[in-house]
Amino acid sequence: MHLSAADHRLPLSDGNSIPIIGLGTFSEPQATHKGLCATSVKIAIDAGYRHIDGAYLYKNEHEVGEALREKIAEGKVRREDVFYCGKLWATNLDPEMVRPALERTLKVLKLDYVDLYIIELPMAFKPGDETYPKDENGKWLYHKTNLCATWEVECHPYFTQPKLLKFCQQHDIVIIAYSPLGTARNPMWVNTSSPPLLEDALLNLLGKKYKKTAAQIALRFNIQRGVVVIPKSFNPARIKENFQIFDFCLTEDEMKDIEALNKNVRYVEMLMWQDHPEYPFNDEY
Ligand code: A2P
Repeated sequence: MHLSAADHRLPLSDGNSIPIIGLGTFSEPQATHKGLCATSVKIAIDAGYRHIDGAYLYKNEHEVGEALREKIAEGKVRREDVFYCGKLWATNLDPEMVRPALERTLKVLKLDYVDLYIIELPMAFKPGDETYPKDENGKWLYHKTNLCATWEVECHPYFTQPKLLKFCQQHDIVIIAYSPLGTARNPMWVNTSSPPLLEDALLNLLGKKYKKTAAQIALRFNIQRGVVVIPKSFNPARIKENFQIFDFCLTEDEMKDIEALNKNVRYVEMLMWQDHPEYPFNDEY
């Protein structure tokens, strides 16, 4: 597989293709300045990113759309050069709700289509206007659905997902790794007792060898084995840094050494929804 900054799309079995690195855009809405998401998306497009990962839930999808439309108007990219992935939130999992939710996303983006639309959480919540519905006692209001769906997968050197990767590769299924840098460690939904990925000694040692950062080594590891990564950053230097992963190659031994770091550490555990009947992380994949 040849990957370069100018051409790093993975073919999909339906004839489409997906750029192997995308910019993640989730950032706590209360802690994020207005406009920062749009600026970050524009910096990313200028840096060479052609894949943006977003969601209606993130409350900044309008900024993603604004940035994409601006870059298209400027002539920097055409719509078809950019891959946008949107997400269906857990309160809209009933089949008749899917289309209106997607249409809302398109309206917010002011775009004609998304390239991928995935289920954000494989656990349904009570439909309605509340994003995180609870009853008067503060108990989560779950909802029953017939879930037969794709699930995007956390994947990084501490959670390498060998079994799932093997299964998907055998069936020509591309994996998109969320939290490829080990997350922003928000204790609301992340198990922060697990060690921070980017402080790992081997990732830093290899970084020294290649004059790269631990983050770049972690990202390179995944793309070199055909896994799409969507690192989130709204910091201009780090947005660019995370894209500088096409000008070096890890050796086979180094790939094995990184693979051996696997600790089955899942950062995004979402333990608050552990009693949901569809809670997905009790099962081995
Ligand atoms: P920031 O937006 O300030 O750059 P993940 O993609 O695994 O969820 O990780 C996202 C977190 O990692 C964010 O807190 C982001 O912060 C930070 N981050 C992104 N790129 C880098 C990098 N190259 N080095 C260190 N931290 C990074």
